[in-house]
Amino acid sequence: MGYHEAVLLKESIAGLRIDPNGTYVDVTFGGGGHSKSILEKLDKGILFAFDQDADAQKNSIDDNRFVLINQNFRFMQKFLRLEGVLKVDGILADLGVSSYQFDTADRGFSIREEGELDMRMNTTQELSAKQVVNEYELDDLCRIFREYGELKNAFSISKSILLAREEDEILTTEDLKNAVKKHIPPHKSNKILAQLFQAIRIEVNDELKALKEMLLQSVDLLKTGGRLSVISYHSLEDRLVKNLIKSGNFKGDIEKDFYGVPNLILKAISKKPITASQEELESNPRSRSAKLRVSEKLA
Ligand SMILES: C[S@@+](CC[C@H](N)C(=O)[O-])C[C@H]1O[C@@H](n2cnc3c(N)ncnc32)[C@H](O)[C@@H]1O
Repeated sequence: MGYHEAVLLKESIAGLRIDPNGTYVDVTFGGGGHSKSILEKLDKGILFAFDQDADAQKNSIDDNRFVLINQNFRFMQKFLRLEGVLKVDGILADLGVSSYQFDTADRGFSIREEGELDMRMNTTQELSAKQVVNEYELDDLCRIFREYGELKNAFSISKSILLAREEDEILTTEDLKNAVKKHIPPHKSNKILAQLFQAIRIEVNDELKALKEMLLQSVDLLKTGGRLSVISYHSLEDRLVKNLIKSGNFKGDIEKDFYGVPNLILKAISKKPITASQEELESNPRSRSAKLRVSEKLA
């Protein structure tokens, strides 16, 4: 099994419009597919990459123009400053989890593999899926299932988790599936379980707050004319990226200055998000939900 097959590789790298002598950041290194492609286009330039999962370090690239930082991208600006970097020419983010993380059963991300309820991308952090599922109050479970999983039956699913954990601790992905199965019609089971697991994963890794922090730091770090390529895999992520580009904030409300000019910080390079070609869809099913938005830093 390969670590990860890069999604929308050509499109996201083309979006960066790479200057061979520029400074670039890949905030989601994973298997390094996007990073390798950036490095191929660099001459005297330099690439910094981030990944909060220590397992990604085994894919590090031996190249003196490359630096891999094993940190959450929400601390990108601080760690780049430590490297003496205050401005960059381009930033790439390929959000979510890698195929390696999904397919490694004991990381607990997959609805198909039996494994411990974990779902931490950074395995040194304390909060895991086990704590969320066994210790969160009913209201909090409902909130995350509704907000992060967009589940309509969030209340009944949360209630069934509370009932199940009164009997016994919910320790594995299989225990969780058994706890909720009576509220899931069999023909919709994969979809609803995927939404449920997505919600828990977002909570465990605080994914939406980290994304917002990284996006704001990206705007700060980019030089005027610098490019931001973001690939997202679900509507909650994509909405934040889209709103920031369209309106300069995450709510999507366009605010205007005294002269009626919108306060924009990024310019969209294409009106619609870029999605995978038929060829990529056939060779890599993971590309199905991918949406790429490329934007440029305004003065
Ligand atoms: C979809 S994979 C990236 C795959 C990569 N582009 C490639 O070509 O192999 C996402 C990676 O980003 C990492 N990641 C996700 N959120 C992160 C965060 N907040 N900070 C740092 N790394 C993160 C995950 O651990 C995972 O390895």
